[in-house]
Amino acid sequence: MKTELLKGKSPSQIETPLLVVFATDNNAAKDKDAKAEPGLLTGDAALKTAAEAVLAGGEFKAAANETLLLHAPAGLKAARLLIVGLGKAAKATPHDVRKAAGTAVRFAKPRGIRALTVLAPEGAGFPAGATARAIAEGALVADFDPDTYRSDRKDQSVQSLGVIAAGEAEAGFREGVIVGESQNFARYLVNEPGNRMTPTVLGQKAAEMCREFGVKCEVYGAEKLHELKMGAFWSVSQGSAEPPALIVMSYEPANAKPGGPVIGLVGKGITFDTGGISIKPSDNMEKMKYDMAGGAAMIGAMRAIAQLKPAVKVIGVVCAAENMPSGTAQKPGDVQIAMSGKSIEIINTDAEGRLVLADGLAYARQLGATHLIDAATLTGAVAVALGTVNAGVFANEEDTFGKFSEGLKISGERFWRLPLEDEYREQIKSDIADIKNTGGRYGGAVTAAMFLKEFAEDTPWIHLDIASMAWVDEPKSWMAKGPSGVAVRSIVEWVRRYAG
Ligand code: BES
Ligand code: MN
Ligand code: ZN
Repeated sequence: MKTELLKGKSPSQIETPLLVVFATDNNAAKDKDAKAEPGLLTGDAALKTAAEAVLAGGEFKAAANETLLLHAPAGLKAARLLIVGLGKAAKATPHDVRKAAGTAVRFAKPRGIRALTVLAPEGAGFPAGATARAIAEGALVADFDPDTYRSDRKDQSVQSLGVIAAGEAEAGFREGVIVGESQNFARYLVNEPGNRMTPTVLGQKAAEMCREFGVKCEVYGAEKLHELKMGAFWSVSQGSAEPPALIVMSYEPANAKPGGPVIGLVGKGITFDTGGISIKPSDNMEKMKYDMAGGAAMIGAMRAIAQLKPAVKVIGVVCAAENMPSGTAQKPGDVQIAMSGKSIEIINTDAEGRLVLADGLAYARQLGATHLIDAATLTGAVAVALGTVNAGVFANEEDTFGKFSEGLKISGERFWRLPLEDEYREQIKSDIADIKNTGGRYGGAVTAAMFLKEFAEDTPWIHLDIASMAWVDEPKSWMAKGPSGVAVRSIVEWVRRYAG
């Protein structure tokens, strides 16, 4: 998608197949009679006149993502005018604009409208930069569809997006384009099926991306795992005919403060999770191609970081493997020695994500990471705890969690903090080894995080369990069903807080 910021252009004078303008519901939150007309978020007199009659008509309430289309709007050069609601005026933010811009793109796509111009709302609740950024992100993310391998696929992508904005919107707009495209890159990786996105291919895709954006990248195979004594990571891959891949990306800007923080991004890259010998039921097993979404999020975040160029060193480590049952697969009861030297009793071979991450975290520390973040589709239990509204976040240190929280205000993604208290450690004690890889039925997301905590050791660390959010089953007006690219935006914002 071609994107362009149109500074200070007059919306009524712009020639475009589709002009998009936002409106808010001006009724108070508790007012059920809804007498006030929706307010169009523009100061343009011609635009207001064009929409006057239809807004007075009362059928359009400007509820969040509600749409209203006008053809050949009087007094405007645009062929069509699309009004998209942001919900109650008092509560509308750039996060609502992100979704509403996405709604406009997904309105245009199936109707064969290939170009649109969006008018950024102005005023108190809508800072120019944040609003332009939200529009760019929302539009790009909405343009993604997962139907790659359908023969009847017409290329319905929107080809051009113009954003009319006043004020200081350039930097925000550029960020939105970078971050939106990077989120889509992560979604592309996740969408590919297991036969086409093996650990080796994931490594190639990461390396290609790194070459394009000037990031160092090394992809290692099984020998390196043996050399580094990554017994936990290796044990997951040993049952598969596909070799594992240890993907290491390093962004080393010249202006990073010497002796400053080194950020370690660690991603779970299970390109297919059958469960191994503790095999999963066949219902929904096809979805387990998305078990590399944490790794994809890190590759997507690196892609954005390489372009945003924060002054901080960042290392990305993705542990890619396929979890398969076979004559060479690991078995329940096996004991593995992780890179850190800790011994692990394997209770369930389906709890494989924490095994690959254990060695990924240890390796990122060995490479000098002073602050760690991992992302993983780690547990079904996080979905039981939080549903599909929030992903889980865990942290072993308050300052780093604070920075992550601040970033959420910009990313607009939703993560809910879950506890990491010593008492939970009891559940993963083993009789034969230092630790076991499952903690029983209760608190499954927490005990998985407690397992990882052993390998983050004393390094400030954040763990994101995105199992419930990485794949969207219900399409939204602003996003196709399929891979969501969740966590890319929040990881990038967290990293940026260590720059300088
Ligand atoms: N990849 C799964 C978690 C998952 C489940 C992701 C559903 C997305 C949707 C993970 O490897 C897994 O199998 N976890 C087990 C852990 C259990 C064996 C302790 C789970 O959640 O059931
Ligand atoms: Mn599993
Ligand atoms: Zn898994």
